[in-house]
Amino acid sequence: MKFLVTGGAGFIGSHLVRLLQTHAPVNVLDNLTTGHRNRLAGLPCHFFEGSILDRKLLSEAMRDVTHVFHLAAMVSVAESVANPTDCQQINVEGTRRVLDVAAEAGAKRCVLASSCAVYGNDPAMPKTESLPPAPASPYAESKLAGERLCTESTLPAVALRFFNVYGPHQDPNGPYAAAVPRFLQAALAGTPITIHGDGQQTRDFVFVEDVTAALIHVALQPDLRGVYNVASGQSSSILQLAKKILSLSGSSSPITHTTARVADVRFSSASIERLRTTGWSPQTTLDCGLTRLFSKT
Ligand SMILES: NC(=O)c1ccc[n+]([C@@H]2O[C@H](COP(=O)([O-])OP(=O)(O)OC[C@H]3O[C@@H](n4cnc5c(N)ncnc54)[C@H](O)[C@@H]3O)[C@@H](O)[C@H]2O)c1
Repeated sequence: MKFLVTGGAGFIGSHLVRLLQTHAPVNVLDNLTTGHRNRLAGLPCHFFEGSILDRKLLSEAMRDVTHVFHLAAMVSVAESVANPTDCQQINVEGTRRVLDVAAEAGAKRCVLASSCAVYGNDPAMPKTESLPPAPASPYAESKLAGERLCTESTLPAVALRFFNVYGPHQDPNGPYAAAVPRFLQAALAGTPITIHGDGQQTRDFVFVEDVTAALIHVALQPDLRGVYNVASGQSSSILQLAKKILSLSGSSSPITHTTARVADVRFSSASIERLRTTGWSPQTTLDCGLTRLFSKT
């Protein structure tokens, strides 16, 4: 076996590389737009710096690869609203090239990082994979298009719809940073925790180790195709999350509110039964994951 992780210098990708390199050689392709090279420090992997849109580089990175984990993407909903053409190019055209080059190179399987964003604001809860998608942003549309490309590909491919992933080494900085690392950073610094909107919006927060376990699990099951949710199966509101982080850190940071994010989904709750029936299950509750996060900071 040999693995390629696109987006391997990213938050989830670098956790995946750490796990994979204990099993077989790993190639990483990343253009470092939101990724950081130091996340891979000390890990024995072959790093290809550049874009998934570069076919030549992609072919080099794909040499002798058996399993492809395609995580490279424009990852922010808000950024996709601001730059929809770039989003389409990176997330749709990029995925098409990854699948094409993987098939040409004789890879056995590809796993795509998709997103719960494809469910949009449909009020049906919990989100099961059989619900009709209702993408509400260019990012969500691009992820749905990526799933369709997986279905059409001659290469056996699976798409995993990640819900809200959190864990060590997640970037707290920048305009599109996720809630958990932002809140954690503010709590530790004693600065205000800023919530977009009223905080009643709900999310399913899933620990990154459960996500990397799911990625490897589906990659190694030769008969799996289609789409699968990856989540904890438990939802919390953003306000509850902020309060948990304050309580765990003993911080007295105030909670403040700002305008809601554009194209933000209101309620999100996942069914994880489809993936569970294949033998994967999440191991880490939110309380447990946050406690582990504090012990590493
Ligand atoms: N973090 C989450 O909660 C979450 C939720 C749903 C889906 N996802 C998906 O999981 C994947 C990984 O997300 P993440 O949270 O680790 O984000 P991340 O930003 O940390 O990782 C994305 C990586 O892709 C790289 N990249 C971007 N454009 C590229 C290009 N054109 N060519 C090569 N590399 C490129 C970035 O430099 C970065 O290292 C993404 O596909 C994202 O859409 C993440």
